[in-house]
Amino acid sequence: QSYPLHLFQDFWCPGIHIDAVKSFQQYFQAKESDVIVASFPKSGTIWMKALAFAISNHQRFSSLEGHPLLTSNPHELVPFMEFTFGGDIQDQILRLANMAEPRIFGTHTPFPSLPKSIKDSNCKIIYICRDPFDNFVSAWTYFNKVKPVSLPPVSKEEAFEMYCNGVVDYGPWWSHMLGYWNESVAKPNKVMFMKYEDLKEDTSFHVKRIAEFLGVPFTQEDESSGMIENIIKLCSFEKMKDLEVNKSGVIGRGSIEKKNFFRKGDKGDWVNHFSSPMTEKLSKIVDEKLSGSGLSFKKHS
Ligand code: A3P
Repeated sequence: QSYPLHLFQDFWCPGIHIDAVKSFQQYFQAKESDVIVASFPKSGTIWMKALAFAISNHQRFSSLEGHPLLTSNPHELVPFMEFTFGGDIQDQILRLANMAEPRIFGTHTPFPSLPKSIKDSNCKIIYICRDPFDNFVSAWTYFNKVKPVSLPPVSKEEAFEMYCNGVVDYGPWWSHMLGYWNESVAKPNKVMFMKYEDLKEDTSFHVKRIAEFLGVPFTQEDESSGMIENIIKLCSFEKMKDLEVNKSGVIGRGSIEKKNFFRKGDKGDWVNHFSSPMTEKLSKIVDEKLSGSGLSFKKHS
């Protein structure tokens, strides 16, 4: 980590986000029409933000022409709740309060630490979750790209040790996943749990599921006009990665280059990075931590 992590409310919170998480808990007022894209970092957040934006606005932006996703990065259209990028927390709360409805925003905050009004209102939460093997590779490679130049690169071994101990931004990852998983089981109309791998496998099926979940199902006419395929293409890794708005510049007031949000955009890259002992160790942790929850991932060997 380029900044200290603090064990705060049972999760490893980046020091720079603690005050914002607390302020949101205190002041944020959810609206019934809100849509929250929740995720553990490096699980496909930006993809889900783009899809949630395109799907919930499909009646407003029915053609690709002039679509906001062509000229704005998904993190700009769907801001993170707790990320102020060096700005003021109250400004961030106001910014979200004044967003046009339906407001769509992102969060990495674990379920138990979400503002109470989000938990109590009828707003919707879509949680995107990724196989921990690919999640680790994505997080480790990302960190080495965005870390301050003054810091030495983090070796795979060192990063893996931290990952296995759950000491990563917003970790442990198993508690993060299980918090949203359990809520999606208890309240399926409130929390939709989506795996990155399933979304990759059959994007069309899941895009329709998301539209139904958000209360904006596609009509027969939408289907026959090719709208679903257009949304899938617009939000695809290949398309988003090549858009000028995602290739150059930094996010918000921050120093993170937008191009860093796009690397391989596929499932299964872990095989290129894991040794047998690593595979064995992480498989064991996944089995142990998720045991009895009903949540599982494809076995790795
Ligand atoms: P990889 O590093 O495996 O390529 P997040 O948005 O949570 O930071 O997750 C980033 C991961 O999602 C990266 O994974 C990135 O390449 C991938 N990604 C970005 N846009 C995507 C898209 N449109 N479709 C699928 N994956 C995407």
